[in-house]
Amino acid sequence: MAMTPWVTWPALTKFGTLGVMGALLVLAGQREDLLENNMFDMESWDEKNASIVCDERSLTARTEDGTCNILENPAEGSVHTNFGRNVDPASVYAENASGNLLTPNPREVSNLIMSRGGDFKPATTLNFIATSWIQFMVHDWFDHGPRTDANPIEFPLPPGDVLGSGTMSVQRTRPDPDVSGDESVVTYENINTHWWDGSQLYGSDKDTNDEVRSFVDGKLEVDGNGRLPTEFLSGKPVTGFNENWWVGLSMMHHLFTLEHNAIADMLKANNPGKSDQWLFDKARLINSALMAKIHTVEWTPAILANPVLERAMYANWWGLGGDRDTRDKFQEDLDMLNNNLGQLGSLFDLVGIDTGLGDSPTSSIEHALAGLVGSRTPNNYGVPYTLTEEFVSVYRMHPLLRDEIKVYDIGSNIVDQEIPIQDTRNGDAEDLLGDVGQDRLWYSFGITHPGALTLNNYPDFLRNLSMPLIGDIDMAAIDVLRDRERGVPRYNEFRRQIGLKPITRFEDLTSDPELLADLKSLYNNDIEMIDTLVGQLAEETRPEGFGFGETSFQIFILNASRRLMTDRFFTTDYTDEVYTAAGIDWVEDNTMVDVIRRHFPTLATSLVGMDNAFKPWGLNMPDDYQDWSAQAKQDHLWVNGALRTSYEEGEVPAIEPIDIGGLINSVLWKKVQDVTDVAPPGYSKPIHPRGALAKVQFQSAGGHDYSGLFQGADHGLLRLSVTGDPSDRGFAPGLALKLLVDGKRSENVSALYTLSGQGDNHNIFANELSNYVQAEVNETLGTTALFSLVSTKPTLLVMSDMAKVNQDGSAAGSVKTPTQIYFVPNPTLRNTISTAPHDFRDDLTAIPAGTKLYDVYGTDMQIRKSIWPWVTARYARERRNSAVKIGELVTQSEFTLSQFGDTGIFFKHQRYEDR
Ligand code: HEM
Repeated sequence: MAMTPWVTWPALTKFGTLGVMGALLVLAGQREDLLENNMFDMESWDEKNASIVCDERSLTARTEDGTCNILENPAEGSVHTNFGRNVDPASVYAENASGNLLTPNPREVSNLIMSRGGDFKPATTLNFIATSWIQFMVHDWFDHGPRTDANPIEFPLPPGDVLGSGTMSVQRTRPDPDVSGDESVVTYENINTHWWDGSQLYGSDKDTNDEVRSFVDGKLEVDGNGRLPTEFLSGKPVTGFNENWWVGLSMMHHLFTLEHNAIADMLKANNPGKSDQWLFDKARLINSALMAKIHTVEWTPAILANPVLERAMYANWWGLGGDRDTRDKFQEDLDMLNNNLGQLGSLFDLVGIDTGLGDSPTSSIEHALAGLVGSRTPNNYGVPYTLTEEFVSVYRMHPLLRDEIKVYDIGSNIVDQEIPIQDTRNGDAEDLLGDVGQDRLWYSFGITHPGALTLNNYPDFLRNLSMPLIGDIDMAAIDVLRDRERGVPRYNEFRRQIGLKPITRFEDLTSDPELLADLKSLYNNDIEMIDTLVGQLAEETRPEGFGFGETSFQIFILNASRRLMTDRFFTTDYTDEVYTAAGIDWVEDNTMVDVIRRHFPTLATSLVGMDNAFKPWGLNMPDDYQDWSAQAKQDHLWVNGALRTSYEEGEVPAIEPIDIGGLINSVLWKKVQDVTDVAPPGYSKPIHPRGALAKVQFQSAGGHDYSGLFQGADHGLLRLSVTGDPSDRGFAPGLALKLLVDGKRSENVSALYTLSGQGDNHNIFANELSNYVQAEVNETLGTTALFSLVSTKPTLLVMSDMAKVNQDGSAAGSVKTPTQIYFVPNPTLRNTISTAPHDFRDDLTAIPAGTKLYDVYGTDMQIRKSIWPWVTARYARERRNSAVKIGELVTQSEFTLSQFGDTGIFFKHQRYEDR
């Protein structure tokens, strides 16, 4: 096997579930190694503990400053304790000492390889909510606090800098105030609690906590409109931590403040008579745990979209508590793993992994799995829990930010407004929430992408950030500088220290020739000088689906687990007694989608079918889609399909000529066989490529005994189209109707006037359309012949499936199917539309919701043909004369022109053979 510096476990996934589980074991093993070798404590706990008294309340509640979580070491994880390290302190030195602090010049790093320069590279598997979420989390976990004015770091602006000549000045990080002076390594303290305790909402000290509480019914302070109070001078909200503020953070703080209050309401209803303090404490526990769960099983699998990771994160969470049903999700996989241990060794060999598992597989695996499913008592593996400098370093994810926010109306994909992010900062954020509306902002964030975590993708606004009292700063230069200042090793040493292989050449990182040249010249051809952040962003080889690379991930494996397994409230005390039973249910049963929907009900439809709020909102077709109600399916297809992809003014595609060559066998078979509402990947519409889509109801006229959906269907979609460019082979209208059914597949029927259409009459309502048309001798298209490949009656669509099912999903009693139906245009429409050449879609989009489009007639006379065309025509006339009105097709929306309506929606044809 070729030597590669990169981890090989991702290759295991190609061996199916067993490989995935094997990879999981490798990760568990890596975590064990990290727990053993990479945790270094930098705090003098005895001094910190001396003044702490843990009272009765702290036994079952999180304290404001994070003390008393670990009763034997009460300062552990609390505010104002030092960051620990994940690399050996013996190898750590702040680079001021080495003389390398400014090599290479941080501003040059920023200019050359960080700058986005207007060329935004999106992370298309995520939405922009993921960006604000992670900053929101980071603010729960850590911050180094205000910097010091003493002895600023200064460096020259490189030649040609847009800021001209001169120097850039950066304040130093404020060192640990308790430092004794003889410590070999500089330490810094966290000004937030290290715990995952919602301190960004609740504060990290009693005073802040008092400010955010209303002291009524356990709630946080909001005004009558659910808005947070604001600080008088800055205009920023009063909340637990409000630094680096912008509208994305404001949305998060509002959402989870409202969530806290909803939890408090629930608790009060279940526990009448409990005090404000009791309600507050419980609501905080529940809200914090919900945020931790959302991060673990939703955000992380979204940014690291890999099957191994999804399982790892599920195991991280559902190992915590009692026997929740959800915990069993991957139980079968685990059983399979246990039964197939023999095969694993050879799989590991194949991808070059030496795990040592072969020696005593069972015990190793048990150990690994026990680690994965969490510990029932908090376990800090002998090192007091704190976050670390290296952890801070890997969360420097500023490239996730865009430079502007695109605002859309709910359900639309047309940009209404673009707002530069610097105009959404501080007090401006609060104005925006009011002006734009929080629901529109959530929708807009849901459908736009964050930036990808790569080089040359650093937001332009952050490279020129105006900070109150500080002036203009370049965050990219600062990010690089901070790691050097705080003694985070450079990239290659960082990898060695955390059990990864060092790279041996610049080419290991990237194949982009321009970037390679820049990296080599910047770092003077010395790979050991590559800055940690630069190396991490440069990593081109990433496990499949990973939004960031393996170096960051290694730090993450350790700390993400530690945040949970060391915390009493996620282990021993994650119980009904401490949280209340309803509280545990709240955590377990709610997702980010539920939270958003609860507080912004107007987004319910946009969220239909979304199983992960951090993935781009849109038309996802989950496995259980067919089980949904007819209404939910219609909403989903309509809002997330049609509305979201509707064309902007002036961008409606022209109607293409028919693509006879595209009517290949496979397309035709799909048309008659696939049971789906959305076209399978690669499916194209060679005929009827463009149309207009509307929501419709089939309202039965009563008085007939055609069964099933013919008795009425409230949730339908209607597509009106023409076969192809009318100037090519004439105007040939067609109709496709989809009637949705609760819990069952939809039923569809299509109808035409004739195969070759109505010549140069461009009125789409000029003629009746029917599910049966007669084969034509000189039909120019030859479709009859083509359709004969898949059906013996190529010009007939039967409707027996439609008659077998009622819209509530029940089976129709005595099934009766019309042989032929006729869509007879509403005379008002027929008489008002021009016959002259024009785009029929303009007629349709002008029709208001609630318009009757067609009277629908049906007959059960047998369809007969004769060798004499005039006899066949007579049969047809007789059938038509026997038809009675069975209902009306009425629009429930306006018609839209959309990508989904053109290429996404799929209408199955029911063949004669399948009746
Ligand atoms: C508009 C949005 C943002 C602004 C204005 C902003 C600004 C800042 C500033 C001013 C700092 C301190 C710089 C220093 O050390 O002197 C900082 C640090 C940091 N930011 Fe951001 N940031 C934003 C978004 C984000 C996002 C989305 C993330 C994602 C994880 C993030 C992660 C971090 C981290 C990890 C630090 C280091 C904190 C520490 O040193 O304790 N930031 N940011």
